[in-house]
Amino acid sequence: MRLERPALLCLAAAWSWSWSWSWSPVISSAHMWTKLILTHHWPVTFCSVEHCRANFSYWTLHGLWPDKGIDCNSSWHFNSSLIEDLLPDMERSWPDLLQPSSARFWKYEWFKHGTCAAQASSLNTQHKYFSKALELYHKVDLDGTLKKFGIRPSEEQYSLSQIEGVIENFYGTTPKIQCVHPKDADRQVLGQIEICFSPDFTLLDCERRGTRGEPSEGGVKPLLSVGGASEFSVCDHDLPVYYPPVS
Ligand SMILES: *[C@@H]1O[C@H](CO)[C@@H](O)[C@H](O)[C@H]1NC(C)=O
Ligand SMILES: *[C@@H]1O[C@H](CO)[C@@H](O)[C@H](O)[C@H]1NC(C)=O
Ligand SMILES: *[C@@H]1O[C@H](CO)[C@@H](O)[C@H](O)[C@H]1NC(C)=O
Repeated sequence: MRLERPALLCLAAAWSWSWSWSWSPVISSAHMWTKLILTHHWPVTFCSVEHCRANFSYWTLHGLWPDKGIDCNSSWHFNSSLIEDLLPDMERSWPDLLQPSSARFWKYEWFKHGTCAAQASSLNTQHKYFSKALELYHKVDLDGTLKKFGIRPSEEQYSLSQIEGVIENFYGTTPKIQCVHPKDADRQVLGQIEICFSPDFTLLDCERRGTRGEPSEGGVKPLLSVGGASEFSVCDHDLPVYYPPVS
């Protein structure tokens, strides 16, 4: 396990991942991404914006996004039979919240982000891409971590620092935490959390910029890549955070 910050070694014990880190040689090119963004949804909040039915009581996977590139290879067709062994886990962990069948959502994520992630040899097949996303999602276990440290959906409100603190202390990296900001409300609603990785799949601060000093594009892509409107933005430190329970 390689943590970015030595000061956090004391947390290593609490952090029970057993990663088997392996360096995958990465194709060096001007277009190569330098960061992967593992994006999680809180379905209740997502569905309050998109008017869907939140039938999931845990953080679901929204996507695994490289920080560079969109729709990198339109001729690389999505084929769900290539990931057949992953489908039960995909249905559970990476569901389309807008409709009962998720295949269209996965196809969309593959074209938009997967074909770009595939520039790295570690992710250059559909099976590698989707299985790595699931692997990272389970290893991160954001849902379990939040619960373990007392951040549960509740009518009570949290401060952003409380939530941020739990994530930063546990993983040793800075996440990006996004909220919905209802008009004229005196609180914001927790909706999306990003955890970031370097090309060798070690944790990375989401704020960190690309190795060549370019600003990361992760922050400017539409935050809701399904269903249109970009309703999420980075949570505000000055407003209480509502983490809505499943009704
Ligand atoms: C909601 O989830 C339950 C259990 O996961 C499932 O049995 C049910 O069919 C789902 N309902 C809808 C409307 O998707
Ligand atoms: C795009 O994907 C197709 C199908 O996998 C592949 O044959 C082709 O080489 C890819 N093109 C590029 C530029 O990577
Ligand atoms: C999808 O992949 C399977 C397994 O490799 C293959 O047999 C099938 O022809 C592919 N389908 C399409 C539409 O490419």
